[in-house]
Amino acid sequence: MTTNYRLAADVVVLEIDNPPVNALSLRVREGLVEGIRRAAADPAVRGIVIGAKGSFPAGADINEIATGLAFAPPILLDVQAEMEAIGKPIVAAITGTALGGGFELALTCHARVASPEARVGLPEVKLGLIPGAGGTQRFTRLAGPEAALEAITGAAQLPASRALELGLLDAIAADPLAEAVSFAQRLAGSGAPLPRASARAEKIADVDPQLFATWRAKVAKKYRGQLAPQRVCEAIEAACTKERAEAFKIERKLYLECRESPQRKALMHVFHAEREARRIPGVGPEVAPQSIRRAAVVGAGTMGAGIAMCFANAGIPVTLLDVSPDALERGMDGIRGHYAASVARGSLTHEKVDWALSLIGTTTDYDALSSVDIVIEAVFEDPELKRRIFAELDRHSPEHAILATNTSTLDIDRIAEATSRPQQVVGTHFFSPAHVMKLMENVRGAKTSPRTLATVMALARTLGKVPVLAGNCDGFIGNRMLQYYGAEAERLLEEGASPEQIDRVIEAFGFAMGPLAMRDLAGNDVGWAIRRNRTLPEDERWSPILQRMAESGRLGQKSGRGFYLYEGRSRRSDPEVLALIEGVSRELGIERREIPDAQILARLLHPLVNEGAKILEEGIAARAGDIDIVYVNGYGFPAYEGGPMFWAEREGLERVIETMEALAPSHGRRWQPAQRLRQAAERGRWT
Ligand code: COA
Repeated sequence: MTTNYRLAADVVVLEIDNPPVNALSLRVREGLVEGIRRAAADPAVRGIVIGAKGSFPAGADINEIATGLAFAPPILLDVQAEMEAIGKPIVAAITGTALGGGFELALTCHARVASPEARVGLPEVKLGLIPGAGGTQRFTRLAGPEAALEAITGAAQLPASRALELGLLDAIAADPLAEAVSFAQRLAGSGAPLPRASARAEKIADVDPQLFATWRAKVAKKYRGQLAPQRVCEAIEAACTKERAEAFKIERKLYLECRESPQRKALMHVFHAEREARRIPGVGPEVAPQSIRRAAVVGAGTMGAGIAMCFANAGIPVTLLDVSPDALERGMDGIRGHYAASVARGSLTHEKVDWALSLIGTTTDYDALSSVDIVIEAVFEDPELKRRIFAELDRHSPEHAILATNTSTLDIDRIAEATSRPQQVVGTHFFSPAHVMKLMENVRGAKTSPRTLATVMALARTLGKVPVLAGNCDGFIGNRMLQYYGAEAERLLEEGASPEQIDRVIEAFGFAMGPLAMRDLAGNDVGWAIRRNRTLPEDERWSPILQRMAESGRLGQKSGRGFYLYEGRSRRSDPEVLALIEGVSRELGIERREIPDAQILARLLHPLVNEGAKILEEGIAARAGDIDIVYVNGYGFPAYEGGPMFWAEREGLERVIETMEALAPSHGRRWQPAQRLRQAAERGRWT
């Protein structure tokens, strides 16, 4: 049974019971229609409460959207038609999260009562959709267009208190079910017409039409390249400017457009891949993670300080260890600076910041690590230094403690050898800035135990991160792929492209930042130092451009000049850089040519895909989707393109191979398609 029917005095409680998130699957929709009809036909029933076991529905059943079952009648619109026709009050009792279709169901009720910790929202844009069952309309009519634009384009999950303030809820109660029952009784007893969100008009009268132009521009900038947030603006504008029935129809049309869009499919792939990535092949739910109650971070530099903030934000006391009080003070200054900026932006309160800061301690003494459950080392990328630190950590931390390294490239097994507990040594690679970036690339050493793996995967979620497990190799998943992408950008420079063209093409594709702007951000000296330590196959070469940049002091943003000239973070072209690049082309005897934008895109994305295939071949990543999650969450790959592996599948793996084979004779061995890519091409997909 997915919808239980029971009587509480003269009110029927329809309780949805469809774990894990009570999604509005076909069976639930059928159960609701049946329950509403039964209640309508029973003269002893004066009202209905819709509630759920656990959480109120978190939306349409995403799996049914893929199979098409979401569109089998009764669809949500049919359920809502029954609700509007019954003539008896219906009240939603909201617990947990009422999201998407779940909140649309609640908005169709005549009143909404929520528990204090409940959250509500219409986050469909995250899946490339807009609400399609009157959500944008009813939300706007209850809360006004400005609040609706903000919350729905931003996929907000509003706390109950805020939703009450906005008029989206009628009451907050410790026992929302009991309160909803008496609410329904009061509505039934009042004899007044039943309140309907769709009939409310106060907040949509006299709206300044300029509001929508302003928001469209804002959304175009903030959610660059994304269809759904733009369509949300249109639907909300329709709510304010069109006759009601017409506006509802417009919303539906826009919803259907989004549902059919390639972006929706890509974003749903990302949703599923992100959840799939949490599963470690061979490590089942019987392996319970260790609990992490106290943590330490070694190294108070930018990364270490950011990682300490992640723990503090999650309520886990953390000790920051470094060699000198000065280093610690610099680290704490950085932390305080980040928190102050968050308060200034309004994203954190003073109280929250004071609380987080109270959880961060500092020390120069390894003895202070005697009661921690995990230590994360985040010092400079020097293998010998790391080994020395791990030996210290092994001596000073409790026997059960996990020793993790934030290295982005180094061999985990070499580090583990310095300890007596290699089974508890693991990589936890955070991305900069660590307190902001979502990805946590966990790295499995040869001896890392299943329990350690389960612990760091669970820890990632506690810290609000998206975990992916990688095998131990140079650069793991993300940076190993990146080196070929970065190298290709320099080849394109040698052949005739400019930094501006390359970055423009990649940013137009949807990346947060082009490869050369990214180099400038990371520091060209850092990029060159990493490259110097890498060995290349004999018939391959690195372009000398990066080295020249580093050696001529063009370090990037930090020195005010790199591939661009900088004032703060804003960049502009530097003719001297083009001269440097042209000089390299001349030296190498390369005749510069116009390179079409489409070729630039292909040249940069194919190496990612090919290296991704090798990573799969070697078992460094368990699934193609894991690689997509790394790229979307750690490297700015547009989520609405699904990640590099999804992109390749959509492009056609056969076609990817053809493009590579056409380039291989003139561009070298790195363009030869990987075996795993050929295998996948035979099936047309990675799995
Ligand atoms: N339909 C079907 N399954 C869903 C679902 C949905 N709308 N939302 C979540 N699930 C599944 C997840 O796939 C996951 O399954 P798994 O355990 O097999 O991996 C499980 O429910 C738990 O979800 P998860 O995201 O891991 O849990 P959480 O507690 O971190 O977050 C939510 C719960 C509801 C906040 C989050 O899942 C979410 O945002 N869901 C989408 C909400 C949405 O966009 N609704 C509109 C749909 S059109």
